[in-house]
Amino acid sequence: MSAELTSQSNFKMNQSDKSTNTVWHHATVTRKRREEKNNHKSAVLWFTGLSGAGKSTLAHAVEEQLFQYGYNTFVLDGDNIRHGLCGDLSFSNEDRKENIRRISETAKLMLDAGVITLTAFISPFRAERAMARSLMPHGDFIEIHCYCPLSVCEERDVKGLYKKARKGEIKDFTGISSPYEEPENPEIRIDTGSNSLDDCVKKVIELMRSRNILPVAGVDDAL
Ligand code: ADX
Repeated sequence: MSAELTSQSNFKMNQSDKSTNTVWHHATVTRKRREEKNNHKSAVLWFTGLSGAGKSTLAHAVEEQLFQYGYNTFVLDGDNIRHGLCGDLSFSNEDRKENIRRISETAKLMLDAGVITLTAFISPFRAERAMARSLMPHGDFIEIHCYCPLSVCEERDVKGLYKKARKGEIKDFTGISSPYEEPENPEIRIDTGSNSLDDCVKKVIELMRSRNILPVAGVDDAL
């Protein structure tokens, strides 16, 4: 049976002439067994929002909490991934789509590896976020909209990129010269513009509890 036929995804790659004659090999060490060994479920926490909205800061802070309490975690961070796996991609619409396709597939592998995976990418297009969601079993993809008004992101301008974008030194800059399509129905929308980091972390942890990714009571009671 081909990989395409056994894929759990509804998403059809437009590459029917490539990677043909491949056969899916079923692992004996399954996701379920890994989760049992880990004593926790895996999930993908997909943080989306403008540059400077606080996606990476929040994802890493949530990871820090989870890691300290013994969970297997990993952050896939936009800027970092663009130093390697996606270093060949620009910020054109097409390349952003390819960026998110690669990250979605990577996140799916990590989900199967039993890891709580936190992704921090602008991921500006609804269609690509929907595609990412469609790759994961229902309930395992948690979309977290880090909402911060453009004016606040620009005011913060931690990396100095908005200034450059306004001067025309960076093209296709999200929010300035490239669109950001706000999530219509995310699992949670967190106002990272006005809430403290601690409060934002608590909201994510609460959501994970309510979705049974984390136990309602347990070692992380202190959170
Ligand atoms: S995405 O749109 O393809 O999801 P990604 O999250 O990987 O973007 O990368 C965004 C980061 O790249 C920003 O936080 C910023 O530091 C940097 N960056 C450089 N150029 C741009 C640009 N034109 N638009 C947005 N971010 C950019």
